[in-house]
Amino acid sequence: MALASSFNLTLLLPLVILGCLMAAACGNNFDEDFDITWGDGRGKIVDNGEALTLSLDKASGSAFQSKDEYLFAKIDIKIKLVPGNSAGTVTSFYLSSQGPTFDEIDLEFFGNLSGDPYTLQTNVFTRGKGNREQQIFLWFDPTADFHTYSILWNRRNIIFFVDDIPIREFKNLESKGNLFPKNQPMRLHSSLWNGEDWATRGGLVKTDWTQAPFTVTYKDFHADACIWSNGISSCNSKRPTDSDSDRHQRRFLFQELNEDSRSLMYKYQKDYMIYDYCHDFRKYVGVPPPECPNN
Ligand SMILES: *[C@@H]1O[C@H](CO)[C@@H](O)[C@H](O)[C@H]1NC(C)=O
Repeated sequence: MALASSFNLTLLLPLVILGCLMAAACGNNFDEDFDITWGDGRGKIVDNGEALTLSLDKASGSAFQSKDEYLFAKIDIKIKLVPGNSAGTVTSFYLSSQGPTFDEIDLEFFGNLSGDPYTLQTNVFTRGKGNREQQIFLWFDPTADFHTYSILWNRRNIIFFVDDIPIREFKNLESKGNLFPKNQPMRLHSSLWNGEDWATRGGLVKTDWTQAPFTVTYKDFHADACIWSNGISSCNSKRPTDSDSDRHQRRFLFQELNEDSRSLMYKYQKDYMIYDYCHDFRKYVGVPPPECPNN
């Protein structure tokens, strides 16, 4: 057993390192991949760059953002959310472009009283227009351990995953007249902030500041991505003679759900979804947007 695992390690380690050099983005070192952008020392890169923590107290929250801008990516990160009474706290994790007509792909975790479920809200903005919220209860305690949250973004669709289970599919249906973010490069952002006026039970439950500081921990960031720099995508600069490992890294550009993964998504949506804009008729006069199944 010991022999087998040390053999695997020596074999795998150089491959992993090689893979990182060749991939457009690799991850796993928060110093290299991110800047802390807000919070006067409340955001910290720890464990030799292997983890990052954000904290929130009554005076301020904190935030970080990726150094790179991406135009299509598969992003994975492990997050351990604020434990205990986290009511009123909001942890946001999102891709976003700049300016008034920004595109954005959002995950937001709304804290709750101890023992009450966290809500995960997802949203997609195209050219500054959002209003496409879905909410699910997480089916595990997201504060007891790290869980993997992922965004897949390519020309065909946006898919959100929790522990590799797809929880939402947002297809590119431009042919049916909807908007889809595909022209503006986005940076990855995350922040921990105070949403006590609205986040928990619509703002009825306030933040218990005696529990502050509240802390969220991140590790194992990984991005397969096309990095956008000076108007050029790292994916376009590659030639058809690319190595197999390059092509492997860019499989995300074509990734979609298959029948099985889509039925898994429907099962989780059926069991855990608590809000879906497609069924919120206060938001739409007449027909829901083109991407809604009930359109
Ligand atoms: C918090 O828990 C309550 C009770 O289960 C639930 O109604 C609410 O939706 C939960 N989430 C938030 C963000 O308020």
